[in-house]
Amino acid sequence: MAILVTGGAGYIGSHMVLELLDAGEQVVVLDNLSTGFRWAVPPAATLVVGDVGDQDLVRALVRKHGIDAIIHFAGSIVVPDSVADPLGYYLNNTVKSRALIEIAVATGVKHFIFSSTAAVYGNPKQLPVSETAELSPMSPYGSSKLMTEIMLKDAGIAHPLSWVALRYFNVAGADPQGRSGQSTPRATHLIKVACEAARGKRNGMEVFGTDYPTPDGTCVRDYIHVTDLVRAHMCALAYLRKGGKSDIFNCGYSKGYSVLEVIEAVKRAAGSDFPVKLSDRRAGDPAAIVAASAKIRDTLGWVPVHDDLDGIVTQALAWEASLERLKAAS
Ligand code: UFG
Repeated sequence: MAILVTGGAGYIGSHMVLELLDAGEQVVVLDNLSTGFRWAVPPAATLVVGDVGDQDLVRALVRKHGIDAIIHFAGSIVVPDSVADPLGYYLNNTVKSRALIEIAVATGVKHFIFSSTAAVYGNPKQLPVSETAELSPMSPYGSSKLMTEIMLKDAGIAHPLSWVALRYFNVAGADPQGRSGQSTPRATHLIKVACEAARGKRNGMEVFGTDYPTPDGTCVRDYIHVTDLVRAHMCALAYLRKGGKSDIFNCGYSKGYSVLEVIEAVKRAAGSDFPVKLSDRRAGDPAAIVAASAKIRDTLGWVPVHDDLDGIVTQALAWEASLERLKAAS
């Protein structure tokens, strides 16, 4: 029995692979290396370079390795890019997920865990936002993920496939043991950008929007440590294997920080200053989004252990230093 991790050479996927291997699972990674890295996949996992939309390939992998669960990370993740290229996002995140789910059903894969997103809520009317809140994505990215949730729900009714969709809030930080981290070039995510600025890899950074209806006018997000996030997947896998019913869970700490608070935390942890330019709003950004997390805690028994913004940014900074060493050595 093995687990297929799509996108396992990417940021969150590579942390998932480490966690699964640590738990003694057999892991097959399927990644087209468009944004992931061959070196991010530990040798104990089998890396197959290919596309999740390639049904012949996925069918062959399921049969060859006896895959009983798929954890599906592969996809495009940048909100503003999805506004510029909606059809590309619907292809990567929706059409290819449909192809993958179809093969999962056809080959009798038992369980499916899907990387969904808080972006399905759009700009929530009430905070913290619970799983039953109105779904109103503000970007093609959010819509592309919501469509996959809907497909899973319907496929799970028609076929014996049990699934969990995890709605990630803002994932950040790096493996506390220093084995992986956010490595994608041309970063757009706040903590990564701020860490690059702190390490002198860019000449400062911008704050997108200072006139939001939030305490300091900048957007508020719920930043979750990547290790706590992959542990949520471990809880979901154990739950499904025990016969738990298909369901959707938020993944966040129920705590919000503004863009300015995050930048201050990075400056504090780095012990350095860098220029910050106050700029206009960015397309597709909700003002504030914070997770209600009671459901995942109560149903999956998830207990976060890295709920600390200073620790998250400290580990993200340490990973930036590791990347610099890797680059210097190559
Ligand atoms: N931001 C800046 N400057 C930057 C980068 C980001 O001000 O250089 C701001 C953004 O405008 C936003 C906040 O920081 O207000 C967070 O932006 P990110 O790009 O880091 O993350 P997003 O909130 O856009 O998106 C992330 C994930 C999505 C997830 C969403 C849920 O990428 O998958 O969080 O809130 F859906």
